[in-house]
Amino acid sequence: MKIATCKAPVNIAVIKYWGKRDENLILPINDSISATLSLDHMCAKTTIVSSPDLTETRFWLNGELQSTGNKRFQKCLEEIKKRAKPDVECLNWHLNIVSENNFPTAAGLASSAAGYACLVYTLAQIYEVDGNISSVGRMGSGSACRSFFGGWVRWLKGEKNDGSDSLAIQVAPENHWPEMRVLVLVVSDHKKAYSSTSGMKTSVETSELLKYRAENIVPRRVEEMVQAIQNKDFPTFAKLTMQDSNQFHSSCLDTYPPCFYLNDTSRVIIELIHAYNEFREETKVAYTFDAGPNACLYLLEKDVAEVIEMINYVFPSEPIAMSSYFKGKAVPYTTIDEKLMYMLINFRQPEGKLKYIIYTEVGSGPLVLKEAEDHLVAENGEPKI
Ligand code: DP6
Repeated sequence: MKIATCKAPVNIAVIKYWGKRDENLILPINDSISATLSLDHMCAKTTIVSSPDLTETRFWLNGELQSTGNKRFQKCLEEIKKRAKPDVECLNWHLNIVSENNFPTAAGLASSAAGYACLVYTLAQIYEVDGNISSVGRMGSGSACRSFFGGWVRWLKGEKNDGSDSLAIQVAPENHWPEMRVLVLVVSDHKKAYSSTSGMKTSVETSELLKYRAENIVPRRVEEMVQAIQNKDFPTFAKLTMQDSNQFHSSCLDTYPPCFYLNDTSRVIIELIHAYNEFREETKVAYTFDAGPNACLYLLEKDVAEVIEMINYVFPSEPIAMSSYFKGKAVPYTTIDEKLMYMLINFRQPEGKLKYIIYTEVGSGPLVLKEAEDHLVAENGEPKI
């Protein structure tokens, strides 16, 4: 019997991937850039057991048995096996795959990215595959390819029809910009109305804005973003991040029929961040939204305490959720000065508009976990209850 357990991170794009030029191979219409978030607070974890005694391949996600007939799952398995050395003994054995996320699945929180990256990374341990396997993860979920590296990552769209050059590369390592922090504002725990996959397909078919964006805007913006990250130029980084998020959601509105991912709370967050940056006469915080209403804020460590106080004031938690309102890193404390408080009064929301807030930072790529207690399966190879 062979066993491997790994953790893989979430990534949040600052230049968005939206639209495929090849649905089957999952090849994008533009490059994208993301930060990988710390494994300490948000990650997927997978254990894979391979044994000649297993009679079928089974896959559990968050405790529920899944179908292994899923095309994307099959494709990842097939592709990683193609890269294994032919003498790897377990190539024809069945697998028990047990996977867990420690954050809401399919709530627009990049769970499929972490999940597929973790699946493929763990399969690579079982089949002893080395090298850049991000293009295999890409076939599970496009954005997953960026979760194979820590720090700042660029997914090259590639030019070839077979997709062999559509892979992720690291722009800067995780310790490059140590002051960078991330606040994830979880607006909704619920499953989203339209998946990214179907939303972006309709966008490619119907949005002229998306076509223009991919051809004329993103190529330049990606280069500017790489420069901003390399130079640790926060104001430029933040402006590009917000503009790109807004343009992605404009393309969603330009899709016919349109897909809406932002809700009223998301819009309050957008207005609040602009008002705050203006009040401080400096771009201190950037927001970005994926295919869901949750916000991801990028900011520097020195500004975290005030921004957290501000969010806490504008979005008071329900009393019952108070003790678990903040997750992740220890939250620093400060008081808000009177002038800022005065500006914030108009933004104040009723209790409970945010479910919780995760305070985290940029982190490493996937990790192999070696301790027996880390495995998600018991000694008999079945999932632990
Ligand atoms: C809005 O990677 O979930 O998060 O490739 O169809 O699985 P598929 O889509 P997915 O799309 C994510 C889109 C996004 C932007 C991004 O992460 O770049």
